[in-house]
Amino acid sequence: MKKIKFVFLIPVTVFIFFIGCNENKKEGMFKADATVDSAVLANLAKTPPMGWNSWNPFGKNVSEQVIRETADSFVSTGLKDAGFTYIVMDDFWSGGRDSVTGLLYPDPKRFPSGIKALADYVHSKGLKLGIYSDAGTKTCGEMPGSYGYEEKDAKQFAEWGIDFLKYDYCFCPDYVSWNNDYKMAIQRYKAMGDALKATGRPILFSICEWGPRSPWLWGKEVGGQMWRTSYDIHDIWDVPRNETSPIGILTSIDVMSDLGRFSGPGGWNDPDMLVVGLNNTGFIKGGGCNDIEYRTQMSMWCMFSAPLMMGCDVRNMNETTKTILLNKEIIAIDQDSLGKQAYRVWRKDGLEVWKKPLSGGKFAVALLNRNSSVKTLTVSWKDIEMDPTKRYDVYDVWKHATAGSKLATISSVLQPHETNVFVLKENK
Ligand code: GAL
Repeated sequence: MKKIKFVFLIPVTVFIFFIGCNENKKEGMFKADATVDSAVLANLAKTPPMGWNSWNPFGKNVSEQVIRETADSFVSTGLKDAGFTYIVMDDFWSGGRDSVTGLLYPDPKRFPSGIKALADYVHSKGLKLGIYSDAGTKTCGEMPGSYGYEEKDAKQFAEWGIDFLKYDYCFCPDYVSWNNDYKMAIQRYKAMGDALKATGRPILFSICEWGPRSPWLWGKEVGGQMWRTSYDIHDIWDVPRNETSPIGILTSIDVMSDLGRFSGPGGWNDPDMLVVGLNNTGFIKGGGCNDIEYRTQMSMWCMFSAPLMMGCDVRNMNETTKTILLNKEIIAIDQDSLGKQAYRVWRKDGLEVWKKPLSGGKFAVALLNRNSSVKTLTVSWKDIEMDPTKRYDVYDVWKHATAGSKLATISSVLQPHETNVFVLKENK
C-alpha cells in the first residue's frame, strides 16, 4: 500500500513541479512583456525630443479642439517633416479625480470626446500625444496630482495611448524648503518613472522640477529622458536675476552654461520651452521679444541640444516665426547624433562665443551679442580652441549660405541680442 502511494506520488509531484515552472515562466514572460525594454527606452530620446506644449500659448484654455488643430498644423506647415513630433497638453487638461474609481478624468467641457479619442486622432497624423501631472498632491494649477496614485495614473495614461508625461513638482508632501528635500524629489520621481516603465508602453518622462534639486544629477536614474534646468521662462529677453519664476531667455542660457556634462543621448538638460513666435500674445506674459531675440533663443537651444518644445500658437504662425522654427539647418545642429551641449568658449564685453562639437569632425560656433548696441565680433581660431594652422569652410546656417573658407579668424556684425551660427569643417 505504502509502495503504491509512493509510486503514485512521484508523477503527481513531477506534474506539480512542471506546472509551477510554467506558471513562473508565464509570470516572467508577462513581466517582460509589460515592462518597457531598456533598449526601447534608450531609443526614446536618442536625440533631443521635439514638439509643442500648450502652456505658453493657452494655459488654462487648452482643449481637444486646440490639440486637434495643432496636430493638423504640424502637418500642413511642415513642422512634422522638420521633426516636431510630440503635442503635449500641460496643466488644466484635467477635470478632477473620480471619488469612486480614483481615476483621473479630463475636463468634460474642453475635452468632450475624451483623451483616448484625442490620442487616436494625433496618432492618425503620425504624431504623439503628451500629458501633464505632478509628483505632489496637486498640480501647480491645483488640479489633482499623482502622489500616491502613480501606478494608477501611469496605467491610465498608457491605456489612453499617451506617449509623453511632463511631471511637475508643486505640492509635494514633506516639502522642507527650496533645496533640501532632494531625497523626497528623487523618491517621488522614481515612483512615477517605475510606474511608467511597468505599463509596458514607452512613455517619455519629462521631469519638471525647475532646477533647485539638481535633477541633472539623478534625472536619468529615476527614468527621465529630460529635466528642466531652470524656472519658467517668460516671453522676455531678460529680467533682473531672481530665485524663482519668471526668467528670461538670457537667464536660461546662463544656467545651462555649467551643465553640459550632464546632457546627452538618452537624457537631456531642458532650459524650458521656446517662446519663439509668442509676440506677447500668450498665456504666459513678459512683454514679448523681437524676432532677433527669438532667433537667438532657437539658435542657443539648438547649440545646447535642448529639447525643442514650441510654445506659440502654431495654427497662426507669421512668416518670420516659420523661418525660425522650420530652419532645418539649425534643427540639424540640435539633433546631431553626438548630442553634445555647447560650451561657452570665449567671452568679453557682453560678446560670447559658444562651441559645439558635431559628428563627422565638424563644429558649430555661435556668436552672441548680449549688448543693446550693434557690435562687430572677431575671434581667432586660438580664442575658440581651433587649430590655428588650419583652414575651415564656414557655413552660415541663418543665411543658408557659405561664408567662405577661413584661415585664423571668424568675424560677424551682430545686432543687439543677435546670435549668428556657423558650421565649421576643416578644409583639407
Ligand atoms: C510650472 C511649470 C510650467 C507649467 C506650469 C503649469 O511649474 O514650470 O511649465 O507646466 O507649472 O501649472
